[in-house]
Amino acid sequence: MPHSPKNFEHLIGDCKAFLSEKQLQAHFTLYQGYVKKLNEIEERLGKADPTTANYSFSEYSELRRREPVAYNGTVLHEQYFENLGAEGGQPSAAFKADVEKSFGSWDAFIADIKGIVGSGHGWALVTYDWTYGRVRTNQVQGEHHIGLLPNQSTLIAIDAWEHAYFLDYGTKKPDYLAGVLKHINWATVEKRHAMTRMGKAQ
Ligand SMILES: [Fe+2]
Repeated sequence: MPHSPKNFEHLIGDCKAFLSEKQLQAHFTLYQGYVKKLNEIEERLGKADPTTANYSFSEYSELRRREPVAYNGTVLHEQYFENLGAEGGQPSAAFKADVEKSFGSWDAFIADIKGIVGSGHGWALVTYDWTYGRVRTNQVQGEHHIGLLPNQSTLIAIDAWEHAYFLDYGTKKPDYLAGVLKHINWATVEKRHAMTRMGKAQ
C-alpha cells in the first residue's frame, strides 16, 4: 500500500509568527520527496529477489540499505509537523510530571533540548524510553539514523537540520528553536504521552 504525503498546510497560518510560507513550503517539498522515495523503495523491494542478497552489491541489498533513509525521513518529518501548532498551548500536567521525574526540573529538560540542537545538525527527539521507563532526549544525525536509540516512542520531534530554518534564520539556530518551543502542539504531545501511560499500565 503506497504512502501518501500528509497535508500540513495549516502550519502556514499557525506558525506564521516564526516560519515563512516559503520556508515551510520548501520543507514540505523535501518531506514529500522522502515519501515518494519510500514508495519507490517498497515497490522495488516487493519485486527484488532476497536470495540475491550480497554485502558488496545487489539490487535487493542496496534497497534494504537505503530503506531506513526514506522511512525515517518520512516518519520523523510527520512527527515534527504534527507536533507543531499555534502558539499558546501548555504541556499537560502528566507530561510535565514525567519530565520533572526524569530530568529533575522542566528547566533542565529545556536546557537539554537546547544542548542537543546546539551540538550539531540533525534531529532532537524527546522520547519515552521503554527500557528505562523515563522521558529522554535523543540526538539523531546522519541519514536520520545515527544515534537513533532503540525501544523509544517519540513524544516531540524537532528538525534541527539547516533546511528547516535557514531561509528564515540563517545561522541563528537558537532563534529558530525558540520559535519551535513556543509553537509546540501540546495536544499532540499529550496524545503521544497518554499512549505511553496506557502501555505502562498493561
Ligand atoms: Fe527536515
